[in-house]
Order: sequence, then C-alpha cells, then structure tokens
Amino acid sequence: MPLLAIETSCDDTCAAVLDGSRILSNVISSQADHERYGGVVPEVASRHHLELAVPVVEAALADAGVGFDDLDSVAVTAGPGLIGALLVGLSTAKAIAAPRRLPLVPTDHLHGHVAANFLDPDPLEPPFLCLIASGGHTMLAGVRDHHGFEVLGETLDDAAGEAIDKAARLLGLGFPGGPELERLAADGDPQAFTFPVAMSRDPGLDFSFSGLKTALVYISRELGEEETARRAADLAAGYQAAVVDQLVTKLRRALEAGEWPAVALGGGVAANGPLRRAVAGLCEQKGIPFKEVNRELCTDNAAMIGSAARFSQPLAYPDYLSFDAFSTGPRGNR
Ligand SMILES: Nc1ncnc2c1ncn2[C@@H]1O[C@H](COP(=O)(O)OP(=O)(O)OP(=O)(O)O)[C@@H](O)[C@H]1O
Ligand SMILES: [Mg+2]
Repeated sequence: MPLLAIETSCDDTCAAVLDGSRILSNVISSQADHERYGGVVPEVASRHHLELAVPVVEAALADAGVGFDDLDSVAVTAGPGLIGALLVGLSTAKAIAAPRRLPLVPTDHLHGHVAANFLDPDPLEPPFLCLIASGGHTMLAGVRDHHGFEVLGETLDDAAGEAIDKAARLLGLGFPGGPELERLAADGDPQAFTFPVAMSRDPGLDFSFSGLKTALVYISRELGEEETARRAADLAAGYQAAVVDQLVTKLRRALEAGEWPAVALGGGVAANGPLRRAVAGLCEQKGIPFKEVNRELCTDNAAMIGSAARFSQPLAYPDYLSFDAFSTGPRGNR
C-alpha cells in the first residue's frame, strides 16, 4: 500500500509516493525567489510552501497513479529545518491523514539523507559509514541499522554546503552555489592557489570549514575585484578541492579501524562530481563497496523522507494532532 511523503524543511516543496522501497513518484518544486537575496529567506520560503504544497502533493499522487483514498500512511519531515517551512508541511500532512484516520509518520530530515541509500534500485543494507554533507550539516554517520545512526564526527562551525554557497556568492555565482561552483571549477586549476585543509592533522573525526571561507576572502581581497573575476575558475577549483580534501581525509580516518564494510553519501554536497570520484577512489583503495546514490536523491526530496519513514515510529490518529515540528534536532545520534 502506498505511502505519501512530504518534505518542506528549507526552500524545496517536495512530495513523493513510495511502495516499500520503490519510488512511484518524486516531485520537487524549487523556489527560485531566493536567488536574488543570495540565500534562503525563511518567511519567503514558508509562503511559497503554502502556495505549492497542494499542487505538489497532487502532482505526486497523479504521477504515481494513486488517489488520496489509496494511501496507507502519510510521512512528513518534522525537523530539523526552518520552523515556518516545516509547519506548512506538517499541517498539510495532518490535513491529509486526519480525515482518513491514517497514521502519520514524523521523520528526521538527516535520517532521510541516510535513508536515500535504502531506496531501489540496489538498496544498501546496514552496516555502513555515511558521509552527510549538506547545506546545514556535515557529519560522519555510523549506520548500524535502518532506524537511525551514530554521529562519529561533525562540523564545529559551517557546513560544507554553507561554505560552498558562501564561496559561490563571493565569486558572483547564483544560489544555491554548489552546482555552479562545480561547473566553474571544472575549467580551473586546483593548484593555482593554496587553500588550507582544516583539521587534517586533528586526530578526531570533526570538520571545520569557516577558515576556508576566510582564506578565500583574504585571497580575493589581495587580488582585487578584476583579478578575482579573471581567476574565478582557479579560485573555485582550489576551494572545491579543499572542501573535498577535508571530507575525504576524515572519511579515510573513520575507515581506518576497518569496522565499516561499505560507504555511502548523503546531502546536497554528495551530488558533487569531484567528491564522488574521490570517495570512489578511496573505497577502491580500501577494497570496500561505495554506494553511489542518485544525484536527485542527494539534495532535498520527499522520497528519502518516505524511505526513512519506513523505519520510524508512526503516530496513530488522533495522537499526532498536537505533534509539533522542531527547528534544531537533538545533537548527536538519531
Ligand atoms: N554539485 C554540487 N556540488 C557541491 N555542492 C552542492 C552540489 N549540489 C548541491 N550542493 C549543495 O548542497 C546544499 C543543499 O543540500 P541539501 O538540500 O541537502 O541542504 P539543506 O536541506 O538545505 O540542509 P540540511 O540537509 O542540512 O538541512 C547547498 O549548499 C548546495 O550548494
Ligand atoms: Mg537536506
């Protein structure tokens, strides 16, 4: 029986229909309005979700060829994310589930990024090590079962995606910056400028990206506006390489104990080609499989929320009517 999943934690309005681990539909409507502000404006995001939630859910049902009355349960991102944005998704999910007396499954967004790896084709079975790198989080997750994960290390300041978006903005690229920075970097020389790879000598598994952003600010100040624009591809290539280097260095360190039999990625930065190639190379060296989740399942989407919901606690009607969203998740393990 199909499950409807809704995700509205940031600026993408998403709905998907799943039958077990099979995706029947996966609709994503990205809000273009934020580009002119160079970042997501929370209140603008909430208002757009209000306008888009119903058409996006209807499109997901139509694509899957199912009606509201065919649904078995409704899953929704409960957090972490922008509180106003989350509340629109949660209210929509309650409004669909309650009149039909369907169970509601509140789902953790980061569990969703991990659970994208449980979807067809080739679902990955735990245990595995998952590097989550997104707009708001960067962490190494030890996944021992389908139900959650253990945080082995995480960023002490900025997330990798946030650092990438800030660099892209400084180089005059659009928002979100990841795909554009990757395109620009493809024409640049990653060795032309020296960027610091933070935490590389730190024996732990935590990350730090704020110094990298500061290094770019200083380099571009020294170059001046014109020269920064002329050397933008080299700057993008060097910056991207430093982000990838730190992520892969920590991943390698986490694999050293030899405990993890497979590696997976999650979060928007996992769509990055050079990161995927570097992780594939590391896994080849180590002789362990690397699960390459589809790029569309890395950035925010509702299929991953439906996948996590299969392994989350459903709430029965009417218990969920007073259930609230949360903007920041519990620190640490899920
Ligand atoms: N090809 C790419 N290369 C590098 N970064 C990318 C790429 N594609 C997307 N990103 C980055 O991924 C981030 C968005 O990821 P995602 O949608 O998972 O984040 P989020 O949902 O905003 O944050 P979180 O999941 O932590 O709540 C942005 O910072 C974006 O620039
Ligand atoms: Mg996300």
